[in-house]
Amino acid sequence: MMSDLPQNPSFQFDLAKIHSSPLLNCVDFNSELDSTNNRALELSKDSSIKTPCLVLTPKQNAGRGRGVNQWWSSEGSLTFSLIINPRDLNLSVETWPKISLTAGLAVCETVRALNHDLSLGLKWPNDVFLNGKKLSGLLIETAQNQPERLVIGIGININNSLKNAPEEIRAIATSLTDEINQNLDMTDFLLNLIHQLLEAWKSLTIAESMVIESWRRYCILTDRKITVTTGTEQLSGDCLGIADDGALLIKSEAGTQSIYSGVIDQFI
Ligand code: BTN
Repeated sequence: MMSDLPQNPSFQFDLAKIHSSPLLNCVDFNSELDSTNNRALELSKDSSIKTPCLVLTPKQNAGRGRGVNQWWSSEGSLTFSLIINPRDLNLSVETWPKISLTAGLAVCETVRALNHDLSLGLKWPNDVFLNGKKLSGLLIETAQNQPERLVIGIGININNSLKNAPEEIRAIATSLTDEINQNLDMTDFLLNLIHQLLEAWKSLTIAESMVIESWRRYCILTDRKITVTTGTEQLSGDCLGIADDGALLIKSEAGTQSIYSGVIDQFI
């Protein structure tokens, strides 16, 4: 039977291995989706769905980014969402704002395990950079009527070269294959990342200071001049790094401010 999946094995997943992973209590694989987050938000409404639940597709055709942004995915990119119940992971409500930064940290650690010399960084609050360009984006959302559940959407450019991407994307983004010149096993990468995510979130409860220290080590904005938009306000100043509670610290003429959510427009 003809499959509508790409034929290159490096673009495919070993579904048997994913289904048998002890890390997951539910796997929802779709050969094509608009957005894994859309699908995960829909599934989250069903209280019988067991978490952590993986929603995976090798072909996402309308990936969403933060705000009005879109996420460009091509064959060989990893796009998935994980539905979690923070309470099951012993994550108290106070830790919720830190879940996303910690997820970015797990992406950094998973990539670093492939090659310790890679120049990886976290761009607060949701991006992972490699060699100065965006490698991965995260979109965290809450399911309607299911406030107990979080959807963690992650896109990472793995085996998809950006050489054929639109110019505006090529200018700001990169992929692992473009940087390390090798194709990776997508299943192993995915399962390693899910393991790292669950471990990193566990550390938020039992070893928070280590997690905070790691955010700070990876933060690429520290000591740079940045401009951030929060709601309707734009603020420029020197970035002093990330506070213990996950806020970004900006020093401007008005003093030092803690930013809890926003979009970084510029950093130099
Ligand atoms: C951003 O950079 O603004 C966030 C990008 C998040 C993209 C991922 S891909 C998997 C998941 N499904 C989506 O529609 N978006 C996220």
